[in-house]
Amino acid sequence: MNTTTETFLDTSFKKDVYTGLTTFPKYLLSRYIYDKKGDKLFQDIMELEEYYLTNSEFEILSIHKDVISGFFKGNGNGFDLIELGAGDGKKTKVLLTHLSGQNFNFVYKPIDISQNAIDSLTKTLNEELPKVRVDAEKGEYFEVLERLHQYDERKKVIMVLGSNIGNLLHPRAINFLSHLRETMNDDDLVFMGFDQKKNPQTVLDAYNDPKGVTAEFNKNLLHRINSELGGNFDVDKFKHWEVYDPESGTAKSYLVATEETTVRIEAIDLTVKFDAWESIHTEISQKYDDKIVKWLAEESGLSIVTSFTDSRNYYKDYLFRKK
Ligand code: AVI
Repeated sequence: MNTTTETFLDTSFKKDVYTGLTTFPKYLLSRYIYDKKGDKLFQDIMELEEYYLTNSEFEILSIHKDVISGFFKGNGNGFDLIELGAGDGKKTKVLLTHLSGQNFNFVYKPIDISQNAIDSLTKTLNEELPKVRVDAEKGEYFEVLERLHQYDERKKVIMVLGSNIGNLLHPRAINFLSHLRETMNDDDLVFMGFDQKKNPQTVLDAYNDPKGVTAEFNKNLLHRINSELGGNFDVDKFKHWEVYDPESGTAKSYLVATEETTVRIEAIDLTVKFDAWESIHTEISQKYDDKIVKWLAEESGLSIVTSFTDSRNYYKDYLFRKK
């Protein structure tokens, strides 16, 4: 990338699309799937029978809410329950309902970069669980956590559900966990969901639903490039493709060009040529086992306190503290 190129790559989206499509092999970052339409498609994915992750975590929280809450409860001073990437809060509501029913002294702090997500979550929680004190913050995870760290007077529980960590390769996951650790005091906890290794077919089916919702979700990357960066992708010429490697536990999503095609993206002054069957790698969804999670924790200065699983052992929520 030379200096003239850099001057018109004035947003991360432009920069990342330029880099991803001029690198070999081509890739795009999954974080850009999530605009309003991408958020809605992800909600639809979470309703799919094949996407077992949501139901599994819902089951874990429903069955183990009492024990989990026991770990959260601080000494007399209560605690702050900070959730990174809360979404529509459907799963979290199970915990919040329980904590509020038991009259626990806590504040729920969902953090999200989308003001829209925060406003609608705060509104539904105020209506459905009026006793719960909700103090949402808009911002990047670490910027908000660092701010909170400066004036934390009581126990913090940092929660990341949905196996969101699985969208990071191990080195970036370690970086993320290490960052979390830096914001923690001795009493604080991290409560985090990790999708587990299982029958490879079950994993593949979760990312390859017959209704094509996951394919639409993946293709939203191309729609966004078209609408926001003046691209002319013929989206129908790209096929959603999923692979799962049971050895590494990595599920990978691709968009594969079904014929030779050339795409122009005006806003970044880029013409990209695709050979027939050339791929764009778009997402990883890592699957774990206890050994990998223990290794990630150790590398990040954390230790596992305990974990909770569902009746099929598909998914686990782990509790971590500082080592
Ligand atoms: C948000 N993330 C954890 C989801 C996952 O399972 O990797 C995103 C997703 N991609 C396809 N389906 C769901």
